[in-house]
Order: sequence, then C-alpha cells, then structure tokens
Amino acid sequence: MSIEIIQTDITTLRIDAIVNAANESLLGGGGVDGAIHRAAGPRLQEACRALPEFRPGVRCPTGEARITDGFELPARFVIHTVGPVWHGGGRGEPALLTACHRNALALAREHEVDSIAFPAISCGVYGYPRDAAAGVALSTLAEEQHRMHTPHRIILCAFDSGMAEAWRRAAERLHVAIAEG
Ligand code: APR
Repeated sequence: MSIEIIQTDITTLRIDAIVNAANESLLGGGGVDGAIHRAAGPRLQEACRALPEFRPGVRCPTGEARITDGFELPARFVIHTVGPVWHGGGRGEPALLTACHRNALALAREHEVDSIAFPAISCGVYGYPRDAAAGVALSTLAEEQHRMHTPHRIILCAFDSGMAEAWRRAAERLHVAIAEG
C-alpha cells in the first residue's frame, strides 16, 4: 500500500484508473477534463452521455463519482468526479471534496482497480486553495487506504510543481508516508 506524488500529465499514465475533475454534465470541459477527453477520444463523451441524468443536465452531482472505460487512454478506466466550487469554505466544500476522493475509491474497489491516479480536484477553475485541498486529499486517501487496503497504489498526479509541493507539505503535516514513485 502506498501513496505517491508525481508531476506529469495524468493522461499519459498506464495504470488501472485515472480520476477526472469533471463538471456535473460529464460532457467535458477545460483543464484536466479537456485533456482526458482529448486523449480518450470521442467515445468517452459518448459513454458519458449514455450515463443516466440524475436531474436535467446533471449526470454526476458534486461529490459523487461515475466510471467509464478509458478508450484511447493508456488507463483502463476513467473515474469522473465533480469537485466543489470554492466559495470561501462555508458551503460544505471540505465535506464535498472528501466525498469525491472517498467515492472515487469506492468505485475503484468495485472494479478491482489496484492503481489509481488523482489530479488536484477543484484546485483549478473551481478555485479551491491548494493547501486546504491537499490536506483534504491526503487525509482522506490515507484513511481510506488504511481502512480498506486497496487500491494498493494511489498516485497524486500534479501538473505543476506548486501542487506537488502542496501535497508534500500536507503529507508532512499529517504524517502520511509517501512512497517515492
Ligand atoms: N494532468 C494532470 N493534472 C492536470 C492536467 C493534466 N493533463 N491538466 C490540468 N491539471 C490540473 C490543474 O493544474 C489543476 O491543478 O488539474 C487540477 C484541476 O484543475 P481543473 O482541471 O481546472 O479542475 P477543477 O478546478 O476541478 O475545475 C473543474 O473545470 O475543466 C473544467 O469541466 C471542468 O467544469 C469543470 C471544472
């Protein structure tokens, strides 16, 4: 069991599942969502469009997760989750971000995923402060891995060094052991 921190483009990872920081429509967007859809090819959007709507225009409510095939990605699966938009921290953002990580891991276990990579959910367009989001991610992932023992390999995949450093600071602050990737 390990948690790794790496800095790369998440779409290049040849692992069981990569997590997408999506929006509630699940029909793609910018940031990591756009990168994943571009790399996976058009069948990813088709697969997302085929998912049932929870309510008009919403296939995945904030905090929940959905799984699809990875299609042209090297990863087998994409686990789409929708992080909270940051409004200052008083609208349940930490609990929703915790739910994103927990629900993504629950789906991973249901599909016998043994290696999974998370981007910095909500830390881009959705404006979640990096250090606060890093604390939520590290504490949730460490707790879940300790409790359930799988996936054996959890990767935090930063697109820039600033986010990688925020995760490292959170791991140190929370005494979470980080495996060297
Ligand atoms: N690989 C890894 N991480 C990436 C990549 C990539 N190829 N591209 C971007 N990122 C990082 C960003 O640098 C940021 O740290 O992913 C993190 C999340 O940023 P966003 O992609 O903006 O996601 P988020 O803040 O959750 O906002 C989601 O943006 O793209 C739209 O459709 C998406 O509406 C949704 C919103």
